[in-house]
Amino acid sequence: MTARHFLTLTDLSSDELSALLHRAIALKAQLRNGESYQPLKNRVLAMVFEKSSTRTRVSFEVGMAQFGGYAIFLSPRDTQLGRGEPIEDSARVLSSMADCIMVRTFEHEKIERFAEFSSVPVINGLTDEVHPCQLLADMQTYLEHRGEIRGKTVTWIGDGNNMCHSYMHAAQLLDFKLNIACPEGYDPGQEFVEATASHIEIMRDPVMACKDSDLIVTDVWASMGQEEEQARRETAFAPYQVTADLMNVASTDALFMHCLPAHRGEEVSAEVIDGSQSVVWDEAENRLHAQKALLEFLLVE
Ligand code: CP
Ligand code: NVA
Repeated sequence: MTARHFLTLTDLSSDELSALLHRAIALKAQLRNGESYQPLKNRVLAMVFEKSSTRTRVSFEVGMAQFGGYAIFLSPRDTQLGRGEPIEDSARVLSSMADCIMVRTFEHEKIERFAEFSSVPVINGLTDEVHPCQLLADMQTYLEHRGEIRGKTVTWIGDGNNMCHSYMHAAQLLDFKLNIACPEGYDPGQEFVEATASHIEIMRDPVMACKDSDLIVTDVWASMGQEEEQARRETAFAPYQVTADLMNVASTDALFMHCLPAHRGEEVSAEVIDGSQSVVWDEAENRLHAQKALLEFLLVE
């Protein structure tokens, strides 16, 4: 199978990623100007969601509609995928009809297997391991507000989770320094640490990690699928809340990002997420524009 997939950020080269971010900004401006652009007329995106979603689902559906195509929402509750039909068979069948498939699932190996048997591009809409679509939006947002991120310092506070892993990939591809402040036992995966070692530093002290940083990012303490660990995680992560005091250690024009959904009073204080340095609403909206750039990149010759 020769389809070009987007399973992790590193499926793009540095140049492709940069070009895609600039394209997302151009598509956003075009939309704002009321210009119609429909390069995917009658094309169909199938979306398989094995976990909940607001932003990912709506941004892909709206993006396909604006491009003149369609998106189909599939959940395991009402498809044969939830009744044990093999992934390989589902991938073959869905890709024989749809032009592109987005998958949000648990194990990363599952989306890799799906892609192996898909004859059309597969997009990762989040796995336990990575969340590359969110990084397209985050990097677009930084570019819009502050220009190129190359050479800057970004600080990740909290869990070494799927979002953290994709930030590590972004650090390497876009050449910025990533400080990762996480409690012991919640480090990012070893394979990600080894692959991005030149651009990351793991620290325990969130204050040290935020010093002179240009962008502070956090995420939920318990990701989807970890709900039963909530209480234990609340204790471990308590010193890692992003507060105004922490933001004050960062550079004066530092931005705050969070992929959302957020829990005010847990990973971030209301004062920060609703404050002047927060760009979370632009970040959420940019899911639409960045993924349209991705769909165009994967599907338009
Ligand atoms: N940030 C993000 O992926 O949001 P959803 O879970 O709502 O799609
Ligand atoms: N780390 C979070 C991101 C949600 C968009 C999760 O996996 O639940």
